Amino acid sequence: MPRPPNVPLAEVDLSDIDGFAGLRGFGQLDTLRAEDPVHWNPESDGAGFWAVTRYDDIWAVDRDPETFTSVNFVNLEDVDDDLRDFRRSMLETDGTRHAALRKLIQREFTPRNLMKNYEGFLRTLTKGTVDRAFAAAADNGGEIDFVKMVSADFPIQVLARLLDVPNEDTAQLIAWGNEMVANTDPDYAKVRLDLAESEQYRHLPFRSPTVQEVWDYGNELREQRVGGDGVDLVSVLANRMPDDQVPLTQQDFNNYFSLLVIAGNETTRHAISSSMLGLIEQPEQMRVLKDKPELMATAVEELLRWASPVYHFRRTATRDVELGGKEVKEGDKVVMWFASGNRDEAVFQDPYTIDVTRTNVDHMTFGKGSPHLCLGNALARMEIRLMFEELLPRLADIEVAGEVRRIRSNFVNGIKSFPVRITPA
Ligand code: HEM
Repeated sequence: MPRPPNVPLAEVDLSDIDGFAGLRGFGQLDTLRAEDPVHWNPESDGAGFWAVTRYDDIWAVDRDPETFTSVNFVNLEDVDDDLRDFRRSMLETDGTRHAALRKLIQREFTPRNLMKNYEGFLRTLTKGTVDRAFAAAADNGGEIDFVKMVSADFPIQVLARLLDVPNEDTAQLIAWGNEMVANTDPDYAKVRLDLAESEQYRHLPFRSPTVQEVWDYGNELREQRVGGDGVDLVSVLANRMPDDQVPLTQQDFNNYFSLLVIAGNETTRHAISSSMLGLIEQPEQMRVLKDKPELMATAVEELLRWASPVYHFRRTATRDVELGGKEVKEGDKVVMWFASGNRDEAVFQDPYTIDVTRTNVDHMTFGKGSPHLCLGNALARMEIRLMFEELLPRLADIEVAGEVRRIRSNFVNGIKSFPVRITPA
């Protein structure tokens, strides 16, 4: 990644989505880390939030859920008190109920289980994606859109397998994910979160009318599987009792299902796209990986640090507390800018450079120290490793062949179109 533009402190506004165009978001975060690492950022609706941008401060927030709770929601949007319970998933639940909800499916996501149940299958899937991408390129003078043919195709097929849904539904799942997560990008969202039109959907996650379609789809699956002995995630949610012996309500199921559709799809896609772009920009690093494929497992950590597909998650202070020399008041929104922690010069030397030989890359891409640490982290790691293990040996060359367009968002750091020209090995 070229170094981002320098943004003077007086111009920093992390609530302004257009302020994230290009690499300007990273420029703002650089300024805050250097000049005001725990910064009060006002918002146009009169609210505001603390922007926490240094690695150590972010970690301090993330590992202390008693002081910094998730129950008041974890994005910048303020969710009305009376709508919270309707919209709440495990992401916005703390304590024993959170642990019980998480444990319902946690076993499926342990590295051991993934290796045993999924690695072989995922490798076949990866090969299929790469084959299709190369075939499409051969038909089109070597050119494809990398997002469409590679990074979007693969994670959604993985999700289809986890949920055990037919392959022909994957295009629909991709479209739903786009509409919900990239809800500030006019190319994707039917209703934009940052415009007044979204007010009528305040009761829905992401204020997105699409969510209802996702819930209807999930419920159909649930009805087919309730009482059965399936091992897919829908069957588990339909039939397994949480450890706290409080069964999932209909709405618990809805929110769990839409969380799964969203969480593992967009994020992994952007991680793969950004990593590929980074390796194109730093061809010597691509060469190292091609020459020493055994480095891949550790290189994935560096690529995840560098890609930082999620800019932030938020907490809310449950008491007055000092943070980085600032007086945070009970009820204040406290936003952990993970992407900034991943660029913290105090922790990562030369943070804007990919170094696939960097060791002990203790990044914050999945959070750090939190009970909410990404549940799918081992799966995402495996997907990215397999993709680059399959893809790189088959590439003699890859170059950018047009404009790389980024998603308009201050939440996901993503790429929506990425034309490349590939030469097979
Ligand atoms: C590179 C890809 C990914 C990134 C960057 C990512 C990032 C994150 C982050 C930062 C969190 C923490 C949220 C918080 O602290 O409030 C999270 C939570 C979560 N992620 Fe991921 N994620 C990725 C892939 C996946 C995958 C593949 C899945 C599963 C299919 C998944 C499922 C979840 C779930 C269920 C949670 C909520 C955990 C909880 O509240 O206990 N994620 N993710």
